[in-house]
Amino acid sequence: MARYRKLGYVALNVTDVARARAFYVDTIGLQFVGEGADGEVFLRCSVDHHNMVLYPSSDPGLKRIGWEMESDQELEDLVAYLRGQGFPVEEVSPEERRALRQGPTFRMVEPNTTATFEFYSVMDQFAVDFQPTQAKIMGLGHIVLKSPAWQGAVDFVLKHLNFRVSDVINERVVFMRCFPNPYHHSLAIAPGPANTLHHVNLMVSEIDDIGRGMARFKKQQIPVVHGPGRHPPSDSIFLYFLDPDGLTVEYSFGMEEFSETAPRKHRVLENHQDSFDYWGCEIDPRKSAVGSIERQPEKAT
Ligand SMILES: [Fe+2]
Repeated sequence: MARYRKLGYVALNVTDVARARAFYVDTIGLQFVGEGADGEVFLRCSVDHHNMVLYPSSDPGLKRIGWEMESDQELEDLVAYLRGQGFPVEEVSPEERRALRQGPTFRMVEPNTTATFEFYSVMDQFAVDFQPTQAKIMGLGHIVLKSPAWQGAVDFVLKHLNFRVSDVINERVVFMRCFPNPYHHSLAIAPGPANTLHHVNLMVSEIDDIGRGMARFKKQQIPVVHGPGRHPPSDSIFLYFLDPDGLTVEYSFGMEEFSETAPRKHRVLENHQDSFDYWGCEIDPRKSAVGSIERQPEKAT
């Protein structure tokens, strides 16, 4: 079964790429890498060529999620398995993958959330590491999706993509790790009235990154929509805020890690506010209110 290195990158649709770039670089602290031919902007917070790509669109939200496999063989095996199960998996054209600085790359639509999942093994890297500015960002942490078909989506990623459940909040959210990546969750799926992006997370390496973020956001009138607080499931301290399109982004500090061979059992936590936040912070209704999931056009076969 499939083995992953990590959640590699997230592609977001934004209505004004220049404005979003300024926000993600100057306020959040991602590093600008370059612009693509279609106006997309590549950003990084590691040695990878990109950990976030901003694409111009009239409909802000999620374009796709890129999963880095552990090896070329893992990639090949996963694609063969999915095709064998009858799921349409498209290979990205050589032109596009060259633009993405990636080796062989494949995409499929997760049938429940309609989110595009991309799988690759190789991405160009920089010899010089990410240079933190506003925050000591450790990496892209996780993506959370909402869907009316959330249970089907959870079943799909567990059964066909070999993710593992780390914790559940009953009827509210399932936290999953892309095995054998140790982080408590790289993907979580929650119920919702429509298929939407709930939030994108960036992990920071110091508690001061959370405190400084709060001060910076207040100064710049960036809406903080939840937090600071502490998530019981992953034990992380969180701060949620809005990007210029109203997409919800999270800084989090600290996250439980699982061993590959002897992980603890997943817990099922009560559907209660305490299961989301030890500290009891109010949630602004603008949290997770914006964020379409881009639907790929149907392809004639
Ligand atoms: Fe989160």
